[in-house]
Amino acid sequence: MLLAGLLALTATCLAADEGAAPPAEYSGMAPKICLNCHGEKGALPAHEILMTPMALTGDPNTPFGEGNHACEGCHGPSKAHVMSMGREAPGFLFDETTASEDQNAICLDCHQQETRFHWPGSTHNIEGVTCVSCHSVHQPDDPVLALETQPQVCFQCHKEQRAQFLRQSRHPVQTSSNAYSHTGLLACTDCHNPHGSDGPGLLRRNTINEQCYDCHAEKRGPYLWEHQPAREDCTNCHTPHGSNHPNMLVARSPWLCQQCHAAPFHPSSAYSGVDVPPNDFDQRVVGKACMNCHNQVHGSNHPSGIRLTR
Ligand code: HEC
Ligand code: HEC
Ligand code: HEC
Ligand code: HEC
Ligand code: HEC
Ligand code: HEC
Ligand code: HEC
Ligand code: HEC
Ligand code: HEC
Ligand code: HEC
Repeated sequence: MLLAGLLALTATCLAADEGAAPPAEYSGMAPKICLNCHGEKGALPAHEILMTPMALTGDPNTPFGEGNHACEGCHGPSKAHVMSMGREAPGFLFDETTASEDQNAICLDCHQQETRFHWPGSTHNIEGVTCVSCHSVHQPDDPVLALETQPQVCFQCHKEQRAQFLRQSRHPVQTSSNAYSHTGLLACTDCHNPHGSDGPGLLRRNTINEQCYDCHAEKRGPYLWEHQPAREDCTNCHTPHGSNHPNMLVARSPWLCQQCHAAPFHPSSAYSGVDVPPNDFDQRVVGKACMNCHNQVHGSNHPSGIRLTR
């Protein structure tokens, strides 16, 4: 029956306007007419979108809701495409021939909620990344929305970060070549909002430290004796993704500490003329080096913890 309708339409079209390109009009028959050719067995099957939340016909806000043109809500008025049996392109193409702002505008027409409020000024928008660079709207389980598969979507463009998450000490994010248990598994979006944020580096929180305290609350303090660099920025000493040094450190102790505490004698300060015990070289470089004694590097709450030793 659908095919009959299609043939009738084709006939009318050919009779009325032979040769000239028909104006951009809706076929008015999506999704059924489209699925005639783009069904399970067709070339370029597209039926799976009907299994996604965006295909709920009962919800007037979805593309498939009353009056929203279904497939053509995204693919544009495609009567010509239908009439030409697919030879003419659909009304709107999600590929490199269409500017990224125009592609995003289709989605933003309906998606302007809270989490994407920062999209206009976000790095991804500015870099020309489109909604559909990350989202597979035709797939029933959009991989970027699931904890286990999300990182792979990001790694398509962020190869360097993939390498970081393969290092010996790293945050437990799923990469293709590690097999974590699901306990404690993190997604990029535990820390980042890919749609944009107020914070640096698309972080969900306003500062790096606020982001870390989300899960490492015990490092927030306040401490009786603060260690200034920890209060200031955790990444003074830690990489956020992964490192080949234990505890995701940017360098091994004692070198880590000596980046800032540079004097060759102990105590390590620029004007220390005296050797305060211990000045045993071995103690300062073996094992946990400086942390053999200064084991409260994040801050101390002990009354005599001023030197971060207890
Ligand atoms: C009579 C068969 C037929 C119907 C009906 C049909 N299409 Fe197509 N469609 C095709 C063919 C054939 C192609 C492949 C064209 C090509 O390879 O260049 C295609 C390609 C497409 C593409 C990919 C275009 C590209 O260049 O990337 C989209 C999107 C599309 N159709 C959407 C639709 C929509 C939406 C409808 C319903 C309004 C629809 N089609 C109805 C046959 C059809
Ligand atoms: C929410 C917007 C949206 C709706 C609704 C939608 N599509 Fe698409 N479609 C896209 C986007 C974006 C792409 C390109 C990227 C991709 O494949 O995910 C695409 C790609 C396609 C392609 C090309 C696939 C390929 O393998 O190259 C076809 C054909 C297609 N859609 C047909 C349809 C049909 C038929 C419907 C209705 C049943 C439909 N689309 C509904 C957004 C949509
Ligand atoms: C006509 C309005 C409309 C358009 C156009 C539209 N969407 Fe949606 N979309 C919705 C509604 C309504 C929902 C279901 C409720 C919700 O999650 O917000 C939805 C759901 C989603 C979801 C969540 C899916 C899930 O599995 O939970 C994603 C992701 C999404 N849309 C992305 C897109 C992208 C990308 C585009 C552009 C290619 C787009 N949408 C175009 C209305 C639309
Ligand atoms: C860089 C990748 C990326 C881009 C680009 C992107 N998204 Fe998302 N989107 C995600 C991820 C990841 C999630 C899951 C968020 C979460 O789990 O906190 C998501 C979630 C969503 C959701 C469903 C959950 C919600 O927050 O309501 C919608 C709808 C959505 N995105 C729409 C869009 C639209 C529209 C655009 C373009 C303006 C876009 N996205 C661009 C990665 C992206
Ligand atoms: C289509 C390519 C692409 C995809 C997919 C992609 N990104 Fe990006 N992303 C970029 C580009 C381009 C930049 C800007 C240059 C750079 O920093 O590498 C960027 C930058 C970033 C930044 C740094 C932002 C800043 O302001 O410094 C973060 C964080 C980020 N992306 C996270 C993600 C996450 C998380 C995902 C997956 C949900 C993702 N990206 C998916 C292309 C992509
Ligand atoms: C535990 C929190 C956390 C997780 C999980 C996380 N990131 Fe990050 N990411 C950060 C922090 C912190 C920065 C540094 C921000 C800054 O310096 O402004 C960062 C920076 C980035 C940058 C900017 C370039 C750079 O390396 O400084 C990109 C791109 C990025 N992350 C991508 C990702 C991707 C992709 C994932 C998931 C595979 C991910 N991140 C998971 C915390 C995280
Ligand atoms: C969303 C939660 C979350 C956030 C946010 C987070 N972490 Fe973690 N962090 C974890 C989990 C989970 C582990 C692994 C714990 C385990 O293996 O027992 C971990 C482990 C660590 C470790 C120990 C690594 C090792 O090899 O033992 C360090 C150091 C660390 N995180 C630092 C940071 C820093 C710095 C930040 C901020 C940039 C941060 N974390 C943000 C969840 C988080
Ligand atoms: C001055 C360097 C330095 C700074 C700054 C720093 N850390 Fe650490 N962190 C270390 C060292 C060294 C270790 C290993 C401790 C050990 O071996 O005794 C460590 C270990 C950790 C661990 C794993 C072991 C544990 O104690 O739970 C976490 C989690 C952690 N740091 C989080 C943070 C967070 C969050 C911040 C920011 C508030 C931060 N660090 C700032 C040096 C630092
Ligand atoms: C990014 C620079 C930086 C790094 C790296 C760093 N520190 Fe510090 N540290 C400081 C600053 C700044 C102070 C505060 C100095 C002051 O108050 O005079 C401080 C104070 C201290 C104190 C207390 C000294 C005093 O005078 O009360 C100790 C002990 C200490 N650091 C040990 C360490 C150890 C051990 C490491 C390596 C795990 C380390 N620091 C790494 C910058 C750093
Ligand atoms: C064997 C234990 C031990 C080791 C190892 C050690 N320290 Fe100390 N450090 C101390 C003690 C004890 C003090 C306190 C001396 C005092 O109260 O006057 C101190 C004091 C300090 C101070 C404060 C100096 C001042 O001027 O008040 C700094 C900074 C410091 N250490 C850094 C380091 C660094 C960096 C390393 C590694 C290269 C290190 N320490 C290794 C025991 C140690």
